[in-house]
Formats: sequence, structure tokens, C-alpha cells
Amino acid sequence: MDHFQLRDGVMHAEDIPLPRIAQDIGTPVYVYSRATLVRHARVFREALGGVNNPHIAFAVKSNPNLAVLKVLSREGYGADVVSGGELTRALAADMKPEDIVFSGVGKNAAELLQGLDADIGQFNLESEEEGRELAEIAAHAGKVARCALRVNPDVDARTHAKISTGKAENKFGVPIDRAAEIYSALAALPGLEMRGIAVHIGSQLSTLEPLETAFGKVGALIAELRAAGQSVTHADLGGGLGVPYKAGEVLPSPAEYGAMVARVTADWDCALSFEPGRVIAGNAGILLTRVIRVKRSSNASPFVVVDAAMNDLARPAMYGAWHDIEAVEPTGGKGTSHIVGPICETGDTFAMNREMDTLEAGDLAIFRTAGAYGATMASSYNSRGFVAEVLVDGDKYAVVADRLPPADIMGAERVPDWLE
Ligand code: LLP
Repeated sequence: MDHFQLRDGVMHAEDIPLPRIAQDIGTPVYVYSRATLVRHARVFREALGGVNNPHIAFAVKSNPNLAVLKVLSREGYGADVVSGGELTRALAADMKPEDIVFSGVGKNAAELLQGLDADIGQFNLESEEEGRELAEIAAHAGKVARCALRVNPDVDARTHAKISTGKAENKFGVPIDRAAEIYSALAALPGLEMRGIAVHIGSQLSTLEPLETAFGKVGALIAELRAAGQSVTHADLGGGLGVPYKAGEVLPSPAEYGAMVARVTADWDCALSFEPGRVIAGNAGILLTRVIRVKRSSNASPFVVVDAAMNDLARPAMYGAWHDIEAVEPTGGKGTSHIVGPICETGDTFAMNREMDTLEAGDLAIFRTAGAYGATMASSYNSRGFVAEVLVDGDKYAVVADRLPPADIMGAERVPDWLE
């Protein structure tokens, strides 16, 4: 459930009518609902009721806005970060260092040191090479890095190929059949405290089966490691739970996910961590846009040109992703439209032949389920600015990211004097 609903014919975010935000802030603009974020955070935690003291680290990559992180840190969430920049954000949002997990295949030396200096809770190592480098940096700094080894279980998550991470051919983790050997080698190094196993097989998962298969393999690995005399006290089960992008779509619920996890991990005797992103933030945000004009050049569906583009919301162009599109003040008229942005490539298409609310020039519309992997994937392509972000809380709202105008972006560029 989210808090973007029609009231008296006008789409609201909680108690704020969206036309007010469009008028005050302009469009395009991302609008997040605090109540929805909080609700999702609590629903996910409750779903893990069958797990002893779960550690939940919000996947910052899904929505790194500082205000969003602050809402989640106040809900007791930690952070799953994948760069020094995300680590800086998590700390700035008062997430506790011990609640921060650092994932990612390409953490560089400076980032590893940054994590050590911040005394983060856990590094999820993605390779033996990374483990050896971290061990050296830690020993040199007189520190001990708490680590989990991320395994690649070679399981097909049955999601979009670009967001599938647990197949043998994907770049993530170490092959699970070599994991025991690599874990033992890393555990012998000074500077590392190997304490667990991590796994994440992909995002927007629409069925629990692949997760259950992957977790089963992790359980067997933990038993194997312990039999070999290794200590395993932690397991990080990643994120990946999908969300409905189309009205009426049904996906596994957090409760079903939690029940499966509790069942599969019942005898693990491990502290469990989770890294949800989309399931927390996805439906807690929309992208508000205004129709620039409607092109009716033939008998086919009209092109509804909106002021949001692929640089603001990349998912449709990048993954062919579907986002529901609705009028902010629906007239009741329905028709078939192509919804496109102003950018000069055909990839800048949000929907073709979409049966939806009719829209005319000047109308406002929303893209739903844009709270995760929305603003964070924005660019300034076509020298468009960076999109603004707003957080609503009941009957108040605040701009939580200024629109970055094209001139400011150009302002960071320099023409060398030998070109003057
Ligand atoms: N943990 C790790 C190690 C991850 O790589 C990810 C996502 C997550 C957790 C969070 O997964 P979630 O719960 O959000 O599914 N840009 C793509 C999604 C990329 C996901 C990358 N990794 C999209 O727009 O669909």
C-alpha cells in the first residue's frame, strides 16, 4: 500500500495535492512519501518476525537521497553501500557504522580504507583478490576488518538479465564450489576476521524459488565450513524482493519471503542480515511530470511528449521497464497513447500504445513506482539538469534535492587555456 491516491479527483501524496508541488517546484520532480517509506520499513521488519534479531541494511543504491536515508535510519535501518560516496551518505544520515555493510566487486583501495576508518560493520568480499588487498590495508592500519565472503551460487533469479547477479557468468561473488577453500585462505590472514557468507542473486525477483535454492546452497556451505573448523557467525541474504509495477500485479509478499527465510535458515545458528532496496523505496515514490504537447500526426496513437525524459527515469530505456502512468487530475477519458520524453533518441520512450488516462498539453501525470532506481540513475544527457526531489510528510513537504540546472553542470567544466 502506498500514499499516492486520488482525493476529490486530484492525485495526492499523503495530504499534499500534487498540482501544488508542480506549481511550487516545477516539473519533472520526484515525490517521496515518508509514511509509505516508514510503512514498508516496518512491514519488512515484521515479515522477518520468525528470524532472531535480523539486521536490515537498506540498499542505498536504490535511493540514496539523504532525507530518505534519514527516514530509514530513524526506523533503525542500517545501510548496504557499494561506494565511498554511498558510505559517506549513510554516515551523514546517522546510520551507525556497525550497521553498514560494504558490497561491490570494485571497491578500490581508498574505499576499503574509508570503510576501515569508519569502522563499518562488515565488508562483503567479492573475490579472494579483494580479501587479500583488504587484509594488507587493514594490517598496515593496525585494524581488523570484519568480513563476509559473497558467493555466487549459480542460480538463475529469473529476472531481467541486466539485474541478475547470481549466475556463474555474472561478475559477482566467488564460485560457491570454491568458497570454502577461499574462506579458509582469507581467514588465515591477519587483518581480516572472516565471520560469514553473503549472497544476492538479483533484483526485482518475482518468485521465491531461486532465493530458496540459493539460500539452501549457502546453508550447506556454512555447514561445510564449520565441519572444516571455520567460524561462521553471520549470513547476509541480500535483497531482491520484487514489487508490483502494474496495478493488479501480484508478487511474493514480504511475509511470504520472511516465512521462507525463517524456514530455510532455522538451523543455521547465524545472525542474519538483509539488504532490501526496491521493496522499501519503490512504491514510496513517483515521478511527477507535465505534458509539453500532444503530437497527433497520423491515425495512430498520439505521442504525448512529457517534460520527464530518460535522463530523469532511465528504467524504461535501460530495461524496457514498465511504470504505470496516470493523470494527476483524470477526466475519466481513456485512450491509447505513446508516452515519450523530449530527448533526441527513440530510446526516450516510456510507453508505446499504452491504454491509459488521456492527457492534453499542460496536464500533469505521474510515473508510479519510481522511488527506487529513479532519481539515483538520473543523468544530464542532452544537457538537461538533474531532477529535483521532494519528501512529503502528512500535510507538509520539503525539497530534499534541488534541481541542478544545466548551467551549474556546465559551470564544473573548463576549457583549457591552450584552446582559448
Ligand atoms: N544487495 C546487493 C548486493 C545488490 O547488488 C542490490 C541491488 C541490492 C542488495 C538491492 O536489491 P533490491 O532489494 O533493490 O532488489 N537499477 C536496477 C536495479 C539494480 C539492482 C542492483 N543491485 C533497476 O532499476 O531495476
